[in-house]
Amino acid sequence: MNETTKDILVHTEAGVSSIRLHRLERKNAVTAAMYAAMADALDAARDDAQVRVLMFHGDTTVFSAGNDIGDFLQQPPASQDAHVFRFLHALATFPKPLIAAVCGPAVGIGTTLLLHCDLVYAGENAVFSMPFVNLGLCPEAASSLLVPQLMGYHRAAEALLLGEPFTAGTALELGLVNRVLAPAECLGVAQAQARKLVAKPLASLIETKRLMKSGQAAQVLAAMAQEASSFGRLLREPAAREALSAFMQKRQPDFSAVP
Ligand code: COA
Repeated sequence: MNETTKDILVHTEAGVSSIRLHRLERKNAVTAAMYAAMADALDAARDDAQVRVLMFHGDTTVFSAGNDIGDFLQQPPASQDAHVFRFLHALATFPKPLIAAVCGPAVGIGTTLLLHCDLVYAGENAVFSMPFVNLGLCPEAASSLLVPQLMGYHRAAEALLLGEPFTAGTALELGLVNRVLAPAECLGVAQAQARKLVAKPLASLIETKRLMKSGQAAQVLAAMAQEASSFGRLLREPAAREALSAFMQKRQPDFSAVP
């Protein structure tokens, strides 16, 4: 086991590199240091010939509460070189199969990273949400492109404009997840699927994934760049300052005075 930060545990065994979000006291909310650790782990897994599959998972009770809001207030991503954007680029361009096992809340990046995974297994307790607008922000991880494609425009608008959460059953119906399982079984099933992939010829897996994604690989990166620019701007504006401060102060945001 290689401990990259205490909040991200990277473990490589039998051809599978696993990235475990492990910050339960903050519901696996992701800090800049955690994005950096995950970006490094993706880069290392891409370049390591021994690694054939990469897997994301959290705990049986929570996948991720999304970006750490306090961290966002203290050190907002200042440029395209920020760790969060480095992570998103590494994720979207990762050439080998990506699997996720998701139980409990999957908020913000906890949902949008799944759009870049090839196989997603969800616990019955999984709840997905992309509440960017509620925080005065906008979509990231190319979700403004990929969510309407996945769900159709109107369901995407409920998810992205209203920020309404949806269940594992809905995610299955929408095609965001492959299977819904008892939370205790979710990681084991994902690992079993990873083992099946490990036994297959890697060059064929990489080429098949590349071909499936080649039609819009450039569009995905362009959407991410556009979103990053808007996200950075909105983060400094009054609505986001109010929403993020309200979260930290455990009160409802008041947007009435915000233009
Ligand atoms: N950033 C920073 N801290 C967070 C966090 C986040 N995204 N999500 C949760 N936390 C903190 C809580 O403030 C709480 O801190 P406390 O112990 O000091 O009170 C602790 O983690 C536990 O969270 P809590 O809300 O009590 O857990 P829960 O099980 O009731 O709810 C969630 C879990 C994920 C549904 C809920 O925490 C949540 O909605 N979080 C915010 C999600 C969000 O808006 N993320 C940003 C997306 S861009």
